[in-house]
Amino acid sequence: MSLIPLILDCDPGVDDAVALALAFGARDRLNLLGVTTTAGNVALNNTTRNACLIRQVAGREDVPVHAGLAKPLTREPILADDFHGPEGLGHFPASEPRVGPAASDAIGFLIQTIEAASPNTVSLAVTGPMTNIATLIQTAPETARRLRQIVVMGGARREGGNITASAEYNIYADPEAADIVFKSGCELVVFGLDATHQVRGTQAWVEAIGALKTPMASLAADMLAFSNALPANLVDTSEPDQPATGAPLHDPCVIAYLLAPEAFQLRPCRIEVETQSTLTRGHTAVEFRPAVAGAFNAKWVSQADPHAVLSLLLRYLA
Ligand code: RIB
Ligand code: CA
Repeated sequence: MSLIPLILDCDPGVDDAVALALAFGARDRLNLLGVTTTAGNVALNNTTRNACLIRQVAGREDVPVHAGLAKPLTREPILADDFHGPEGLGHFPASEPRVGPAASDAIGFLIQTIEAASPNTVSLAVTGPMTNIATLIQTAPETARRLRQIVVMGGARREGGNITASAEYNIYADPEAADIVFKSGCELVVFGLDATHQVRGTQAWVEAIGALKTPMASLAADMLAFSNALPANLVDTSEPDQPATGAPLHDPCVIAYLLAPEAFQLRPCRIEVETQSTLTRGHTAVEFRPAVAGAFNAKWVSQADPHAVLSLLLRYLA
């Protein structure tokens, strides 16, 4: 089976770290061309350092890390360090990685790498605010449209929101960027909270992954445990009367989709994003009815198989 050429744009972040671990581990399936970082959960210098640290633990310093933009297109950065810890990797000690980021910036790397590949071959996974990708589309729209697909974690329909009652964090952090991506004409697969809330890192998952005893598995288990220990007033539980069954594995779902698309169900839709309102900033309006939507612009992930995601983690963190 030929390798899937992939670039991962992220804002590590504890769940980004698990997504990186999965992508670094699945070297029999993925040709990970590079990792690009953006400001998001924590500041750009920390997301970039964190990506290099995860890469070091995974033993994949063959994969370049390129730093992207330090702030959203027009808005001030909004961190999510309540959910990820001040350094962005839970309790993992902040230190300087052996190998730092590459000299060239993320946008230059994206353009060069996508242009060097055959059209419709490179997949792009985005697990943070879409600032880098929107800048790529604005800078080199034809290059962006050479991508096979862009698989993003962002938005919500049935599940409302997590950073506010009506918006998911990645979209809320840079709604103008999301608007550019949704209007780009690129092939989009969108993992909203509706999908990622179906994939929860229960205590049993933490123990099963931790039992693998590899450095990467131990780090991933620590990330999941950190998320599960967040104070109740921060954690969005789908059903308030149910005890939290584990934090959602938002970002690993994106990599799991690339490895096992059959584990997910998609629905054609039209996604639009709120950029004007203060109250509903970053809300994603997801329409499935052709008569109402007019032209569709994405595929919305409606169902996710959590067991498939756990199986992939156990296989590739071992
Ligand atoms: O809402 C969840 C998303 O926001 C995840 O990507 C998490 O890492 C944060 O970036
Ligand atoms: Ca993220």
